[in-house]
Order: sequence, then structure tokens, then C-alpha cells
Amino acid sequence: MNRHVLITGATSGIGLECARIFAQHGDHVLLAGRREERLAAVKAELETAYGVQVQTLILDVRSREDVEAKVKPAIEAFGGVDVLVNNAGLAQGLDDFQDSSVDDAVTMIDTNVKGLIYVTKEVLPFMMAQNSGHIVNMGSTAGIYAYPKGAVYCATKAAVKTLSDGIRMDTIGTDIKVTTIQPGIVETDFSAVRFHGDEERAKSVYAGIEAIQPEDVADVVYYVTNQPRRLQISDVTIMANQQAAGFMVHKK
Ligand SMILES: NC(=O)c1ccc[n+]([C@@H]2O[C@H](COP(=O)([O-])OP(=O)(O)OC[C@H]3O[C@@H](n4cnc5c(N)ncnc54)[C@H](OP(=O)(O)O)[C@@H]3O)[C@@H](O)[C@H]2O)c1
Repeated sequence: MNRHVLITGATSGIGLECARIFAQHGDHVLLAGRREERLAAVKAELETAYGVQVQTLILDVRSREDVEAKVKPAIEAFGGVDVLVNNAGLAQGLDDFQDSSVDDAVTMIDTNVKGLIYVTKEVLPFMMAQNSGHIVNMGSTAGIYAYPKGAVYCATKAAVKTLSDGIRMDTIGTDIKVTTIQPGIVETDFSAVRFHGDEERAKSVYAGIEAIQPEDVADVVYYVTNQPRRLQISDVTIMANQQAAGFMVHKK
């Protein structure tokens, strides 16, 4: 398709699979994340497999200075931006709010909400100037249904959905589209990150459930960005077959 696609959090999980599917279909990808060696590995993989332009950007979305210094020049060097996938995000901790860590809360808000705002503010001027573009924001079913011990994470994902809706309103006079993707339980490094590296506890989240795979979510992201100009998919909610709401899962 030859579009220019910026994906944050492209070093693992959903973001990595988004990088793969866009590149597979001939789009050029600008991949952002903090882990330099992973970015280099993905770049090598995609360039070899698909022959598209792959650029990497070492970026901590929590750092406003980092984002403001790096994103605009990276897009200029890349050749523009048609699609932004605001995917970088994380949960930290799973505790009753009264027992939860304020540091974890700050990390989630800085990454999932403030980071998304910083990146989008750098990208939107390019889209406004060309009067087109697509912003895909990674929400979560957690943003629809709060669940116990996840108050702050759920609040950040509710904020993602609300930010998407507001940006869609403010850019209504342009051909820019805004979509929120709201996945349920996806089997990625997400739980290992949430539990600060406790792999056993992370595995237990996915035990007894056929979880969504990150490539399933990437398929949906790719799909929403390939609709006719007249059509804008505002929200997509996808759950595992064994999931009925936020944390309501039927384990076998
Ligand atoms: N897995 C689920 O069940 C699930 C469900 C619904 C929504 N989501 C959302 O999907 C998104 C992707 O998560 P995932 O499941 O694919 O988890 P993952 O495999 O842990 O991937 C998270 C990605 O975010 C990046 N990231 C985290 N903090 C960052 C920062 N400060 N600056 C830049 N990049 C950062 C990570 O890259 P680096 O570490 O290299 O920076 C990594 O590439 C998140 O927004 C998450 O909230 C996940």
C-alpha cells in the first residue's frame, strides 16, 4: 500500500504484530519503543521479509522532551505519516486501590495517557497539513468495564477512548479518522510487565483460557485502516470467546 505507518510500542506483543502486518502488505513502518536491540531485530526481520522501508525510533513516550525532540524529525526523515498506531502502554500491579502503588499509577498515567497525548500532538500537524490520516488508539475492554484491583489501569484506558472521541470531534472538518481498538485478554508480555517480571503469575492469567493472540488484534488494526474514505470505524471491541466482560472469563 506504500503508506507511512508510525507504531509505538512496536518491540513486542500487539505493536510488533501490527508492524508485521502493515509491512507484509507493503506499507512502510516507523517503529518506536525503548528497547533498541528489539527494534533492530524487527527492522532486520521486516526489511528482509518484505523489502519495505523500516525506520526505528528509540522513544520513551513518558518523556515529553524525548517525544518533542524526536518524533517530528523522525517523521520528516521517514517521508511522512499516514497512520499512527498509539499502542505503547502497560499495566503495573493488580492490587486493591487502597493497597496499590502510587509509583505504578504514575507510570500507567504517564505512559497510557500522557504519552499518547505527546505523540499525537507531534503527529497531528502532519495529518492536518495533508488533510488525511488515521489515528488508531489502543484502548481495552478495561476502559469499558472497570475490574477489581485495576482501577488506575482501567481509568487510563477509559481516558484513551474519551481522547479518541474528542480528537475525532475536533478534526471533523478534515479527512482524518480516529479509531479506538478495545481488546480483551491478549496473550503477550503484558502480564509479565504488570507483575514486574513474575512469569509464573503472568502465566496464570492465561491458564485455562484460549486468549486472543496479538496477531488477531493486528488484523483488526489493519482492517480498520483499510476502509473507503467515506467510512470511519470509531470503536472496535474484541474479546476472547471465553470472555464476557472486563475480567469476567470462563476458565476451562
Ligand atoms: N495484553 C492485553 O491483554 C491487552 C488488552 C487490551 C489492551 N492492551 C494494550 O495493548 C497495548 C500493547 O500491549 P501488549 O499486550 O502488546 O503488551 P507488551 O507485549 O508488553 O507490549 C507493550 C509495548 O509497549 C511499549 N512501551 C511500554 N512503555 C513504553 C514507554 N514508556 N515508551 C515507549 N514504549 C513503551 C513496549 O516497548 P518497550 O518496552 O521496548 O519500550 C512494548 O513494545 C498496551 O497499550 C496495552 O495496554 C493489552
